[in-house]
Parts: sequence; structure tokens; C-alpha cells
Amino acid sequence: MAGGSVSECKEYLFKVLVIGELGVGKTSIIKRYVHQLFSQHYRATIGVDFALKVINWDSKTLVRLQLWDIAGQERFGNMTRVYYKEAVGAFVVFDVTRGSTFDAVSKWKHDLDSKVKLANGNPIPSVLLANKCDQKKENSNNTALMDNFCKETGFLGWFETSAKDNINVDEAARFLVENILANDKGLPYEESNGDRIKLDQETVAAESKSGCC
Ligand code: GTP
Ligand code: MG
Repeated sequence: MAGGSVSECKEYLFKVLVIGELGVGKTSIIKRYVHQLFSQHYRATIGVDFALKVINWDSKTLVRLQLWDIAGQERFGNMTRVYYKEAVGAFVVFDVTRGSTFDAVSKWKHDLDSKVKLANGNPIPSVLLANKCDQKKENSNNTALMDNFCKETGFLGWFETSAKDNINVDEAARFLVENILANDKGLPYEESNGDRIKLDQETVAAESKSGCC
């Protein structure tokens, strides 16, 4: 059974990366998703930030998403290999008002795939986010083109999002978690050291007793 528990409640902790160019809205998407907040004020992330989102996935499943908010400037550094370690999913974000940030998506995806893999050797599931869709687009990439781009670059799919207006943020996260859980199916908890962070058994037991779901 995945996720030790007393009351047949499965608990997961998944490390999910959020990457993409400077100022595309990674921190804003996470703030919207986790804290239901948005600010126009831009403060560049330095290095990496963290946030935790707890999801009552269904009556028997609790998912904790550990979101790693990686600074856009890190693409030019050597730290991404360290940050990507043991991640099981990723969002790659670009800004629809700046075409150059879309051009950089393939570079981020390549960086990701070359530095982290699932235990079975497959790339980790990743979803492309076309953020700031509340604003005017610089290039109007149509749906077919975007679908094709995702297929070619190995994204599971893409969403137009707005951290500002709260568009598709929850939907994109749900889509990614569905895919992470699908990878996880049938993988015994004890043997999943490669692609999932183990929860402290005592914490799991204590929380399960108090009714985790
Ligand atoms: P780095 O930390 O430098 O890599 O940037 P980031 O990707 O974390 O970007 P951040 O979330 O800090 O957002 C940059 C700017 O874009 C801020 O001024 C935000 O208010 C703005 N912004 C983020 N998301 C949206 C959005 O969906 N719509 C609009 N209109 N503005 C947004
Ligand atoms: Mg940031």
C-alpha cells in the first residue's frame, strides 16, 4: 500500500519544480495557488523559494506538493542540477506578452530532462504554462501549434494561466498531480526512493490517526 497509515489513508509528498525565464510569473502562480494572493509588485526570486500545498485529493488520499520556485536567473547558473534532484513533476512557465520567454521554454525543458529522470528512466511529467493570459499576447500561438509544440518537446499538455485573475492555476496543478499519481500507481511505498520523497513514518502515523483526509 502506498503511504503508510492506520485508517487506509494514503499520503504522498511530491516535489514539483516551477521553472522558466525571469519575471514570467512563477512566484505569482505559486502564491495564487497556495495563498490565494496576487501582487503587481515584482521582486525577483534569488536562488530558490519553497511553498507547500496540501491537497485533499479524495476521501482516502492526501497529497502534499512541495513547490520549488526556482529563480529565472538560475538557467545561467550551475545550481539547477541540485535543485532538480528527486523532483517528480514540473511546470515550465512563459509569459504570453514576451515572445522571448516562449523561445526559452525548450532550453528550460532540455535542462530539466538532462538533469532529472524518474526511477524508470523516463522524463518527469511536465506541464507548460502560458501565463499572464489576462494581457495582450505578443504572438498568437494557436491551439494546434501549441499542442504540436508540447508533443515535440515532451510536455504532457499546456494551459493558459493568469495568476492575476486566477485562471487555470488549480486546473493545471490538478492535471500535473493526476499524472504524477499515475506514475506512482503500483509502486510500493518502501521501494519508491528514487522518485518520491519519503515521509517521516512517525509523522505519517501521527497525522493519520488524527484523520488526514
Ligand atoms: P523571477 O523570480 O525573477 O524568476 O520571476 P517570476 O517568474 O517569479 O515572476 P513573478 O511572479 O515575480 O512576476 C513578475 C511580474 O509579473 C510581477 O510584477 C507580477 O505581478 C506579474 N505577473 C505575474 N503573473 C501575472 C499574471 O498572470 N498577469 C499579470 N498581468 N501580471 C502577472
Ligand atoms: Mg520569482
